Amino acid sequence: MNSHPHQLKDNVKRSLELVAKHDPLSLESVDRTLNNPAMLASKYKIPLQYFNEIENRVEQNTKQIAVLLPHADDQTKEFIELWEGQELMHGAIFEQTLLDIGLGEVDFNANQLGAGIRIGGALSSLPGIHDTLMYLYQTTGAMHERLTAKGYLALIESLKRDNEFALAETAIKPILKQEGSHLGYYKSASLELGNRLAPWQRKLAVAIKTHGYKPVGAIDKEHEARFGATMEIIRGEQTMDEIASPVQKIAEEVLLAKQYGLELPNFVASALKSSINEARAQKLLPPDEDGLAVPVQ
Ligand SMILES: [Fe+2]
Ligand SMILES: [Fe+2]
Repeated sequence: MNSHPHQLKDNVKRSLELVAKHDPLSLESVDRTLNNPAMLASKYKIPLQYFNEIENRVEQNTKQIAVLLPHADDQTKEFIELWEGQELMHGAIFEQTLLDIGLGEVDFNANQLGAGIRIGGALSSLPGIHDTLMYLYQTTGAMHERLTAKGYLALIESLKRDNEFALAETAIKPILKQEGSHLGYYKSASLELGNRLAPWQRKLAVAIKTHGYKPVGAIDKEHEARFGATMEIIRGEQTMDEIASPVQKIAEEVLLAKQYGLELPNFVASALKSSINEARAQKLLPPDEDGLAVPVQ
């Protein structure tokens, strides 16, 4: 790995250009031919609504970033603008799909700004904290995009097994492509910043990440359960360890584990497995471990 400061800065610039190459998707680009809307509505209700919600959370996320990172640099601001436009259309495509199969979008409170965010925003004026929070934002972004991409890959395969090729190929696949470019940006930005941080800033970020990690969108127990059910329904033959593995890998990379000889716990697999338990506890999935991945009606 080349960790020369100029090289790392160039990588960020290049990855941002790659994000900018993608125009937001349009609803017209989706082939809405559905083979079995009733099957989709019963089997895929939880996954489609979950993905719809996390994609639609961008506005709320953008507000949180503005509070947490008031001194974000121009490159970050440019990324957020591009990212927001693309993610909003991902949300709109899921919304259209939900309507097409007779289900509504998920109603969520887009305006809530947690106390934690406000405290973080206040702390960010302390010396060194802003950069630490920025690093947390970037590394979290990399992990969330990787997990989302893994989820969309599983969703594509699952839809194809269920003969829903148009939805898989013309809706989910183009979305997946854009997530890849977001991941590229977060990854290069965290490598660039991580290499400039003081040891205490890096260690603080690693501690927060490994102890407080939650899968993408799992903001509370209810969402954690819905995430778990989503993955269980679409994972096919893959184990949760296999789904967690690339996310753990990207975490180790962006948290510079190898560079600093850090042995990170298997925190991604643990979080993913507890989300399945939460889904079973909340009866979104049958209680038996080897039961079929079918939501309980
Ligand atoms: Fe997205
Ligand atoms: Fe994304």
